[in-house]
Amino acid sequence: MATALELAPRLSDASVRKVWDVYSEFDWPERLEVGTEWFMPPELISIHGTEVYERLSETEQMRLSFHEVVNFFSFVLYGERPLISGLMNRMYRKNTQGAITEYLHHFIDEENKHMIMFGMFCNRYAGKIYPEKKIVLPREYAKGEEEISFFCKVLIVEELGDYYNLKMMSDDAINPLVARINKVHHVDEARHLSFGREYLRELVPQFRDGWSDEETTRFQTWLFQYLSSSWGDFYNPAVYKDAGLPDGYPIRKMALAHEACAAFRNEASAKLVDYFLDVGLLSERPTL
Ligand SMILES: [Fe+2]
Ligand SMILES: [Fe+2]
Repeated sequence: MATALELAPRLSDASVRKVWDVYSEFDWPERLEVGTEWFMPPELISIHGTEVYERLSETEQMRLSFHEVVNFFSFVLYGERPLISGLMNRMYRKNTQGAITEYLHHFIDEENKHMIMFGMFCNRYAGKIYPEKKIVLPREYAKGEEEISFFCKVLIVEELGDYYNLKMMSDDAINPLVARINKVHHVDEARHLSFGREYLRELVPQFRDGWSDEETTRFQTWLFQYLSSSWGDFYNPAVYKDAGLPDGYPIRKMALAHEACAAFRNEASAKLVDYFLDVGLLSERPTL
């Protein structure tokens, strides 16, 4: 398997070959017809499989799919913001000089365009971006833990996002602009993910063996909680309210506890969890 240092120049070449312009890539329709077409496949809707969802008419389900996709684009956009600043801070360091930093320039450029693209969709058609809910609590770090945590956060936002991108990008039954945005995102993310997975895999053995049992447990608890709270973003009370459903908070609570939603979360996280187990950042499979 290629190391991150070997991958970097190849990924930079691919980024140059596949470069795209965020201002000319899409045809933005004047407006979207909400309630008469799907914006997200029904099985990706956060409350799919629940009684609340089943009771909605198809028009209401379609309307909900619009607000759900606006929510998805909103929290991916917010996830990309600390990612860009974190990558910026890691450029031109002793251990990232040369090919790695060169690739980080592409990574940051692409994430910046993703934020513009998601922001344009949300602002144009929903008139807003759903505000971010994540609170960053101060933490104590063992040696290397901050670095490892940063790349874990990058992978979580990118892997979960990519699960949705892949399902939406070639689905003919959903709005074509939404499918296209997912496709454009996926093509860049495939490179980010291959770099991120390898970079983190190499980072772990440099530090983790130096952590005490207590520090290892603390890290694993944090990783599990971060992954869980990332899933929390998918169940947004404001989305349910905007889609005309009463009682946004009880619906979120219901969905977080519902078996069908939990089964979906565990399935959608399987690849990511397998990776964390494989590189030794988790020692058992969590239930999400
Ligand atoms: Fe992105
Ligand atoms: Fe990315």
